Amino acid sequence: MYKKLNAANKELNLYKERLKKINGEYFALDKIIGESKEIKQLKKVVSQVANTDSTILITGESGTGKEVFANAIHEISDRRDNNFIKINCAAIPENILESELFGYEEGAFTGAKRGGKAGKFELAHGGTILLDEIGDMSLNMQAKILRVLQEKEVMRVGGYKANKIDVRIIAATNQNLQEKIKKGEFREDLYFRLNVVNLNLPALRERPDDIKTLCDYFITIYNKKFGIYVEQIEDDALQHMIKYPWPGNVRELRNAIERAYNFVNGNTIKTEHLPSKIINQQMFSRVGDLNKILDDVERRSILEALETTKGNKSRAAKILGINRSGLYQKLKKHGIPTNF
Ligand SMILES: Nc1ncnc2c1ncn2[C@@H]1O[C@H](COP(=O)(O)OP(=O)(O)OP(=O)(O)O)[C@@H](O)[C@H]1O
Ligand SMILES: [Mg+2]
Repeated sequence: MYKKLNAANKELNLYKERLKKINGEYFALDKIIGESKEIKQLKKVVSQVANTDSTILITGESGTGKEVFANAIHEISDRRDNNFIKINCAAIPENILESELFGYEEGAFTGAKRGGKAGKFELAHGGTILLDEIGDMSLNMQAKILRVLQEKEVMRVGGYKANKIDVRIIAATNQNLQEKIKKGEFREDLYFRLNVVNLNLPALRERPDDIKTLCDYFITIYNKKFGIYVEQIEDDALQHMIKYPWPGNVRELRNAIERAYNFVNGNTIKTEHLPSKIINQQMFSRVGDLNKILDDVERRSILEALETTKGNKSRAAKILGINRSGLYQKLKKHGIPTNF
């Protein structure tokens, strides 16, 4: 009887563990908002790689959700009950970064605490570390990180003994590391070590399908936060948002919604509640990556042509000087609905 009970208990615990895992994965992935095929595909990759312990490099423009993704990976993984430690490599001066990451021994330098201090890698033991803005790390620090990746151990500043660590490393950057490698500013060997799995987050303007979903999500968030009940965003306002290129990506969208709460006086966010640069897009600065600017100009011209022709594709194609199938290809490329 006792044996049976014991076995049943074990089985129950197993099921509990499984349930916890499924729930954890469900909730963590749900925090990544987006219904576009790009986001769906990325979420699929996230659930596939979350438990592999492989190093992940998350790339994408500022505000595309790199931190959101890193969080989700940790939450889904079996490491979720241990620490998730973030460090912004760009914000910390190099000499301090080293002791922040690796810790230090007592007396390592003037001002060092008695008994020394554990570094971020030690704190992340059993868990995950996010090396944010890795593209801004000095070559000297890059060499030290490479060593950690190779040896899986860290040595405190002023120490003489290395400690083994079990840490999942996620690195993130909005910089083009390949360009940096060409310029000799980023180590190629470190790049290969980090880039075992790459999650390249698309800019918001490349997935306009997500704009409405994100607006609805942020509306729920700010309804709770401000205790104001906004029900929806007016269609005209949404159309402006779909046309706007969002250089600051999801962060900028979030700010635009938050800002609108200051002006809204009914239950609908209207065009007049949006920042003027979203409405008057000619004011938007055109300095940046040339391909992106050209893409953006193409996208806007297509949208304007469709607006002028009230969605008539043949006429829009004529205005744009391309044929109908060419226009359909471009609609697909820019994620513009064919029933626009
Ligand atoms: N897919 C998403 N679902 C929900 N919120 C998102 C998503 N993407 C971004 N956000 C929100 O947008 C803001 C910026 O996201 P995050 O900090 O992850 O961007 P980032 O890529 O790390 O930017 P940076 O390069 O500037 O550090 C946060 O408020 C975050 O909650
Ligand atoms: Mg970030």
